[in-house]
Amino acid sequence: MTNETILDALKNVTYPGFTKDIVTFGFVKDVQIQGDKAIISVDITSSAPEVKAQITDDISVELKKLGFLAVDVHITAPQAPKQLSNSVSGKNIAPQVKNFVMVSSGKGGVGKSTTSVNLAIAMAMQGKRVGILDADIYGPNIPRMMGLNGVKPEIQGNKVQPLKAYGVEMMSMGSLMEDGQSLIWRGSMIMKAIEQFLRDILWSELDVLVIDMPPGTGDAQLTLAQSVPVTAGIVVTTPQQVSLDDSKRSLDMFEKLHIPIAGVVENMSGFICPSCDTESDIFGMGTSKEVASSYNTELLAQIPIEPAIRVGGDTGQPITFHNPDSETAKRYQASASNLLAFIDKVNTEGGADNSAVQPTTPPGVSACSTGGVAASTAPAHTKSGGGCGCN
Ligand SMILES: Nc1ncnc2c1ncn2[C@@H]1O[C@H](COP(=O)(O)OP(=O)(O)O)[C@@H](O)[C@H]1O
Ligand SMILES: [Mg+2]
Repeated sequence: MTNETILDALKNVTYPGFTKDIVTFGFVKDVQIQGDKAIISVDITSSAPEVKAQITDDISVELKKLGFLAVDVHITAPQAPKQLSNSVSGKNIAPQVKNFVMVSSGKGGVGKSTTSVNLAIAMAMQGKRVGILDADIYGPNIPRMMGLNGVKPEIQGNKVQPLKAYGVEMMSMGSLMEDGQSLIWRGSMIMKAIEQFLRDILWSELDVLVIDMPPGTGDAQLTLAQSVPVTAGIVVTTPQQVSLDDSKRSLDMFEKLHIPIAGVVENMSGFICPSCDTESDIFGMGTSKEVASSYNTELLAQIPIEPAIRVGGDTGQPITFHNPDSETAKRYQASASNLLAFIDKVNTEGGADNSAVQPTTPPGVSACSTGGVAASTAPAHTKSGGGCGCN
C-alpha cells in the first residue's frame, strides 16, 4: 500500500456540490499509513458542517474499500461565518435573494467581470448559495468566463431558468442573444432589462447574488439600487492614476445610493512571473489604498496580473476553481471571506435599505434616471418630483 494508491482512491471523493474531486482540487494535504490505519489531512474552503461531514464519510468509505480498518480524517476548515440574514428594508423585487453585491468600476477592461466570477465561485466554495448576474448589457462576458458560452437557458412560461456552473447560478444578456449581436438601447430599456433580470429569472433562494455592472455610473446602477437593497458595493480598479480617478466616481455613487461599501479590489496589481513566481510592479501597487481610505473603506484584495487569470477567463476555467492552490486563488478566497464578513456586519447593523433612493415622482409621471435620487436626497422644500430636467 502506498500513498499514491490512497490518493487514487481519494479521487473518488468529489467535493460536495461540485463535479471535481478533493485531490484534483489540491485539498488533500497529507496522507499517512500506520499499519491498518490511514490518517488523512484535508484543508477545505467551506465552513459548512455538512461539507465536512460528507467529505469525512466519503473518505472513510473509499479507504475501507482498500482494506483499512481505521480511518482518521483531519479536516481544517475556515471559521463558520454567522448565518447570512435577509435584507428587509425598502424595495426588493427579488425577495428570494438575501444579499446583493454590486461590482462596479469607472472604466471597462479593469477586471470587473473577472473579479465577479472569481469572488462568486470562491463564496460558493465556502458553502454559500451564490448567483451571478451579468448586468453588463453591452459587454456580456460572464457566459464565456463561466464556460457557458453558447448554452441556452430553459424558458418556463415567461420566466427563465438561470444556467449553472462551478456551483454558481448565472444569467446574462449574452445567454439570451446570438453570439456577437449588439444592442443599441435607450436608458429606459436598460432599466427594464435590469428589472426583468431580477424579477423574471428563476433565481433560487440565494445567500448572495453578485451583479457585474456595466462600467461607469448610470441608469443600470440607479435602477438596480432602486429595485433591490444592495448589501455591498465593490469597486474594481487598476493601480494607475487614471483608473483611480474613475473609481472615485464609483465610490461616490455608492455613497449617493446609500450602498454600504465593502471595499476596493486592486486588480492587475503587480505581476507574478509564471516561471519563477516572483512578483514585480507594473502599473503600481497599493495605490488604491489611499482612495479606499478616503471613502472609509478598505482594500478588499490585490490581485496580480497573472497569465492564468486571462487564460482562465478566455477558456471558461476560472482560476479560483481550476487552480485553487495558486496565490491568486488564495487571494480571491480571502477577499470572499472578508466580503461575507462585511455582509454579515451590514445585516447585524440593520441591513441594507434602499428606501431613500426610491423615485419620488407619482405613478404615471415620467421620471428620468437622475430625478429620483436628486429629488430624494435634496432638502425637503426642494422636493417637487421634478429636478431632472427631462420633462
Ligand atoms: N489580474 C489579471 N491578470 C491577467 N489578466 C487579467 C486580470 N484581470 C483581468 N484580466 C483579463 O483582462 C481582460 C479584461 O478583464 P474583464 O474582467 O473582462 O474586465 P471588465 O469586466 O472590467 O471589462 C480579460 O481578458 C481578463 O481575462
Ligand atoms: Mg466585463
